[in-house]
Amino acid sequence: MTKRILSGMRPTGKLHIGHHVGALESWVNLQKEYNNFHLIADYHVLTTNTDTSDIYKNTIEMVKDWVAAGIDPAQSPIFRQSQIKEHAELHLLFSMLITTARLERNPSLKEQVRDLKLDNISYGHFGYPVLQAADILLYKGELVPVGEDQTSHVEITREIARKFNKTYGKIFIEPKAKLTKFSRLPGLDGKTKMSKSLGNTISPSDSPEEIWQSVRKAITDTEKIRKNDPGHPEVCTIFTYHNVFNKDSVKQIERDCKSGILGCVDCKKICAKKISNHFAEYRNKRSEFNKKPDLIKDILNDGEKRAKQVAQETMKEVREVMKIG
Ligand code: TRP
Repeated sequence: MTKRILSGMRPTGKLHIGHHVGALESWVNLQKEYNNFHLIADYHVLTTNTDTSDIYKNTIEMVKDWVAAGIDPAQSPIFRQSQIKEHAELHLLFSMLITTARLERNPSLKEQVRDLKLDNISYGHFGYPVLQAADILLYKGELVPVGEDQTSHVEITREIARKFNKTYGKIFIEPKAKLTKFSRLPGLDGKTKMSKSLGNTISPSDSPEEIWQSVRKAITDTEKIRKNDPGHPEVCTIFTYHNVFNKDSVKQIERDCKSGILGCVDCKKICAKKISNHFAEYRNKRSEFNKKPDLIKDILNDGEKRAKQVAQETMKEVREVMKIG
């Protein structure tokens, strides 16, 4: 039987190019070989932001991005966590199978507390990985495509599956993390991560001119001051982008930067063009959605129906082995 994959993202609005190369493009490729489920983690948004006013709007924008990038909703259902009550139910049952000490050791939580400068967190935020475990195990996902920062959540999912199987009966598979290749694309400011909150992103739906304006301002090798100074591609953000978007000529770029033949402005022009070419098809497809306002709603309705069926079957099994059916 074809393996089932469960992919998920929080709906935080339009995606930037880091999301595309970091996650979305690998989801699209995985569709060819596996049976994929695409989850919109709208409940997870509430863990760090209880303001719900943008969640729906952000969900619609994100689904447009997914489909324009090549996710085929006919093949792989796209659905919101909040529309399938079984997520909440399984989350509650799983919350009894993990200790608070274990959740306190979760490195992702520690990182978030530090980055967001939180001095206290909600009960729901503390249980973030427990809800994620319910997301994955409801659909019996065997593989979970994630970046490095999410592997600790998959590990907790495995532990919960093991504990459940031992306590009540073996119905869950322990899923494996499938690491995506480019987990982190650096931001335009040279910071390690491209992120909307840092304001260092490029949007793939920007016009070629807008992409050029963003790339033009990027920080490059600070020791290459004049055009013909020899450069150090290994420290340059733009070179990292060439590596992803201009694979065929990256060796040439490296040589010409090092020797000083290629100046930063020209190098950035090539880079901006490659980025905008890479997303040309996506841009066309995405602009089509604005003419069809109901299309995304229909995609969600259909995906939610199909996902719900699987979720209900799993919950039936859960209740049976727990003898609370
Ligand atoms: N925690 C994931 C993130 O922030 C989103 C997510 C929620 C998820 N549930 C999931 C990812 C289930 C994979 C599987 O990116």
